[in-house]
Amino acid sequence: MKYLLGSLTDTRRFAEIVAAHVRPRDMIVLAGEMGTGKTTFTQSFGRALGITDLITSPTFNLLHNYGSGRMSLHHADLYRLERTGELEDLGLDELQDSGGVIAVEWGDIVGDELGDALVLRFEHAEDPTSSAASNAASATAQTEMRGVTVSSRGAQWESRIRKLVEELAANFKVLARG
Ligand SMILES: Nc1ncnc2c1ncn2[C@@H]1O[C@H](COP(=O)(O)OP(=O)(O)OP(=O)(O)O)[C@@H](O)[C@H]1O
Ligand SMILES: [Mg+2]
Repeated sequence: MKYLLGSLTDTRRFAEIVAAHVRPRDMIVLAGEMGTGKTTFTQSFGRALGITDLITSPTFNLLHNYGSGRMSLHHADLYRLERTGELEDLGLDELQDSGGVIAVEWGDIVGDELGDALVLRFEHAEDPTSSAASNAASATAQTEMRGVTVSSRGAQWESRIRKLVEELAANFKVLARG
């Protein structure tokens, strides 16, 4: 399912809803081009988990760990991953086993290697129901528009994904089904 996030506020609300559905050991793959909101999502997601530290982009360090929430959050970014061995070096498996939630920006570049996951794909979007004229009149509003496609893979999410997508559909405009 693909939803319209019409503003930063929507992205924050979206992150809060996702956070309410996660459990320890969950993997969240964050996909989408630069500047589409993967880090922004994670900041609100982490705050919703009760993390009080400042959550910053792990683009350069590859991995940041936050322990102050109701679950620990491990926030990785694979954009600068140079060889597949580096993925193992990050030790995400162990962090997952220890009960943390893992959020991985550019997690799609390693295919299915991260295993069972909730997959959130962000993109720039337009609201199909608002007219071109009103969009032009509100350039700011348009730069804040994102689409997010929500899917999952594996048994870990199978029993939960339906509830999540239904709750999201009740909160955000659906841009595409399936
Ligand atoms: N609806 C929105 N959702 C998310 N970010 C938004 C939205 N509207 C505007 N923005 C802005 O877009 C930018 C998104 O940047 P962010 O660092 O989150 O992207 P990213 O996907 O993590 O990029 P990168 O691949 O470089 O890590 C931020 O400056 C944010 O304020
Ligand atoms: Mg980022």
